[in-house]
Order: sequence, then C-alpha cells, then structure tokens
Amino acid sequence: MIEVPRHIIDLQPYKPGRLIEDIQKEYGFERVIKLASNENPLGVSPLAIQAMINSIHQLNRYPDIASMTLRTKLSEFFHIETSCIITGHGSEAIIQTLMRTFLNDDDEAITVTGTFVGFYVITKAIGIKLHLLPLDENYGFDLGAILDAITPKTKVIYLVNPNSPTGTIFTKKQFEEFINLVPENIIIIVDEAYFEFVTDNPDFPNSMDYRRDNIVTLRTFSKAYGLAGIRIGYGFANPELVGYMLKVRLPFEPGIPSQAAGIAALTDKQFLDYYLKVNKTGKEFLYNLYDELGIRYIKSEANFVMTVHDSEEEVNRINEQLLRRGVIIRPLRPFGLPHCLRVTIGLPDENEIYAFALKQIL
Ligand SMILES: Cc1ncc(COP(=O)(O)O)c(C=O)c1O
Repeated sequence: MIEVPRHIIDLQPYKPGRLIEDIQKEYGFERVIKLASNENPLGVSPLAIQAMINSIHQLNRYPDIASMTLRTKLSEFFHIETSCIITGHGSEAIIQTLMRTFLNDDDEAITVTGTFVGFYVITKAIGIKLHLLPLDENYGFDLGAILDAITPKTKVIYLVNPNSPTGTIFTKKQFEEFINLVPENIIIIVDEAYFEFVTDNPDFPNSMDYRRDNIVTLRTFSKAYGLAGIRIGYGFANPELVGYMLKVRLPFEPGIPSQAAGIAALTDKQFLDYYLKVNKTGKEFLYNLYDELGIRYIKSEANFVMTVHDSEEEVNRINEQLLRRGVIIRPLRPFGLPHCLRVTIGLPDENEIYAFALKQIL
C-alpha cells in the first residue's frame, strides 16, 4: 500500500471553467458561448499561428533550455536584462517553480480569499501553510491587513493586480507604502496576468518599475495575447532569484511552439490593440446591462466583470439557467466568493447572447 501524504489526500484540485464540448453534449447545443476562463475571444494572433506552424519542423529537437530568443525579445520589449527574466509553462508554472525553490516546510505564505485559485492549489500541493485574509469592503486586496498578518514564518506574499476574479487594482500609493514595510526576506509575488488591460490607468503600479530584490513580477501570454492553450508565461526578478529558479524549473519548459508563439505575439501590436478595444466596448456593454437589470457589479480593470448577488442559491440558479441556454460563466465558490459570478468579456455577439439569456432568467 502506497502511503499518500495527508495534504495530497485533502487537496482540492484546480477546477477550470466548464468545457464547451461538455455543455454541447449535455444540452445538445450546436453553439456554446464560453465566458468562463478570461480567454481572448478573438482567437490567436495570426503572427503567432504562423510562428507555431513554422516551428513544427523542429519538434524532433529539444527546445533551447534557456529560452534565449524569447528572453532576448522580452528583454528588448521591456528594457530589462535577460538575466532578470524567467519563462515557464504558463505563469502558473513559474509560481510553482518559485514556491518549490524558495520555501522550506515551515515557511508560510499569505494571500487573500477571493483571488486566483491556482495559488491555493500550488501551496497546498507542496504542503505549505497558507494564510488567507479577507478582501476589503470594495473587493480589493487589503494590503494593510496583509502587513499585519506577517510573522517570522512568512516567506511569500502573493498579490494579483488587477485581481482575478474581482477586477480590482491596488494603487501606486498603496503598493509603495506596502513594499516599504515588507521585510526584505519575504518574496512579494505580483501576478500581473491582466497587465495589458490596465496600462492606461495612471494609478496602476507596474511592479516592474519597482525592481527590489524581493519583488517577482509574473506575466502571461494566456490572456491578452490569446495563447492560453499553448502554455507560455514569463516573469521578472533579480538575477540571483532567477538563477535559483532556473535550477529547479523543468529543464526544457516551455516547448518550442510555445516559445515561438510568444516571440511572435509580442510583435503583433495590431492584434493586441484591436482586442483591447473590443474588450473596452464589451465592458461598457456589460456595465449598461447590469445597470439596467439592477445587478451589483465591481468595476473591472481586466477582461472580465464580477457580479455580486444576494446568495449562493441565486448564483447557482443563474449559472444553471445560463448553461441551459448555452452560456458558460464562472460561479466563484472555489475562489471563496460563493455569492459572486464572473463573466469574461466576449465578442459583441457573445455578450449580446449572454445579455439576452440573463434578461430572460431575471
Ligand atoms: C491571476 C492569474 N494568474 C495566472 C493565471 C494563469 O496563467 P497562465 O495561463 O499563464 O498559467 C490566471 C489564469 O486564469 C490568472 O487569472
């Protein structure tokens, strides 16, 4: 009999948004609208598609272990040394590498209830004690409460800005006060998976502008760049931390097509700009819809909007009724917000189908 550690037996695995194919089968629909996982509804950048196709002929070879071409491209794009850049099989893989690299068994992590579930799963999978603090009254990160919760055992603080699933940000002023008070032996992860959607907000602190030795910035190609399926993310940290993480990371991640796609996607400004425009218009559409229906929502700095309801029963009812109409959105119990729903901003006709269904239900 194989003995399995208690924390693995108790582990709740990551539960993604429902698959289009499942809902098609379950309800017999031809068209299902998926607005559940903050994916890019436009599809994949044509430049990235071409780069991936071109890369296929090299798949008998292992990838460049250092992702040097991609890191050089990122280095030019973001004006930072390649030694400060790490790439991974999605930004989630970089979180996992970081946690495996720097945490001993007794070290602890802090974040909030109401943020990216992947972090909860990773900490529990490696048996790290995780302190979850409540969000503030506006569904934002309460950085003051996090400071108060630091103990000598704290090794990592995980922040998400803009946060998912709430869409809120903490400001430059809040971030600057915070980092000045966090001891230097604690790693502050700033997960900026939705960075591209917030760059025109002057209050947003781009964590790359604060290159302290204990700050790690994480970014991804999965959201704005439309490459969720190929798994490619990157991060910025001081070269010493990057060096240790590279020792621990799976040697050949990310794969050849992933690296090629990332390089090409960075150059496809037209695709990105168009998506940002579509997203902005879609967000206004959803705000108007919620205003009209009297649904409480949180203003979002990303590609999704969170709505707040009276009860989990109401959330489940709306979710179930939407599924019956071929629309998949995300109930937020796994994120610790059982009375909330999150909808990814889709294409105009997808938003309209969702709106039509929601009006029928309510
Ligand atoms: C805040 C946040 N971080 C990370 C991820 C995962 O990103 P990746 O696909 O790069 O692993 C997500 C995906 O939903 C996310 O919302």
